[in-house]
Amino acid sequence: MSSIQDLTDLLESSRNAAAFTGAGVSTLSGIRDFRGDSGIYQDVDPRRMFDLSAFISDPGYYYSRAKDFIYTLHEKQPSLVHRVLAQMEQRGLLPQGVITQNIDLLHAKAGSRRVVELHGTPSVHRCLDCDAEQSYESVLPEASQGEIPRCRACGGVMKPDIVFFGEMLPEDETAIAFRIAASADLLLVLGSSLVVQPASSIPITTLDNGGKIVIVNRTPTPLDDYAVLRFSDLQQVFEALAQYFG
Ligand code: OAD
Repeated sequence: MSSIQDLTDLLESSRNAAAFTGAGVSTLSGIRDFRGDSGIYQDVDPRRMFDLSAFISDPGYYYSRAKDFIYTLHEKQPSLVHRVLAQMEQRGLLPQGVITQNIDLLHAKAGSRRVVELHGTPSVHRCLDCDAEQSYESVLPEASQGEIPRCRACGGVMKPDIVFFGEMLPEDETAIAFRIAASADLLLVLGSSLVVQPASSIPITTLDNGGKIVIVNRTPTPLDDYAVLRFSDLQQVFEALAQYFG
């Protein structure tokens, strides 16, 4: 059985720790995850919602479903997990910061300074036709109503800079993320089902380079057997960490 004492010992003895987060860290902020018990993929088809060719042929599917998910993100606040991760970075316990698959900006909102966003961001929307950029705020009037925002320059369909299936991950962020993963002596793997590639190779990179991984996730993951410590409840673990490091 893994104990919090084991975890705090590991954190204190590590020199180069980082965290790798998924949608599970934001369920405590009231944002649904994808594959959890109440995940978004219970209601929407991932191959239509976040797939580039599906978006090009039917952007209305994405916008009609994203209005209550992506276009309410500005109202969400960081959870205890985001806040404690930011505090741990400030205290030197997480010198490599956070690599995240999330697109909700909550690590930065909580005060984390080193945040690598692997799956892009809805802060920027880009025209499919002329590549012109618009901000999240500027597409919000249409997008929050489930309507397709149009490019101010040419009238084309605006697509969020979230990485859809069929798109490459951002080159710079991916290179930085894998470099961090390779040099981390400890990687906290938090709230991810670890089934989406290439992001799910991040913890494998840490393992391959001699680092340790700790997994906190409610449901089983493919890497559970490789974790030195395994917990299931993020709230419980981070309440204990907050008390310990607070
Ligand atoms: P998933 O939804 O696949 O996994 C989130 C995990 O968090 C689930 O296994 C839940 O059991 C767990 N979880 C939720 N709340 C928790 C809690 N309070 N305590 C502990 N565990 C909890 O999300 P990701 O792994 O992040 O891609 O998904 C990866 C990518 O798939 C996403 O970035 C997204 C999606 O398609 C894009 O949008 C580009």
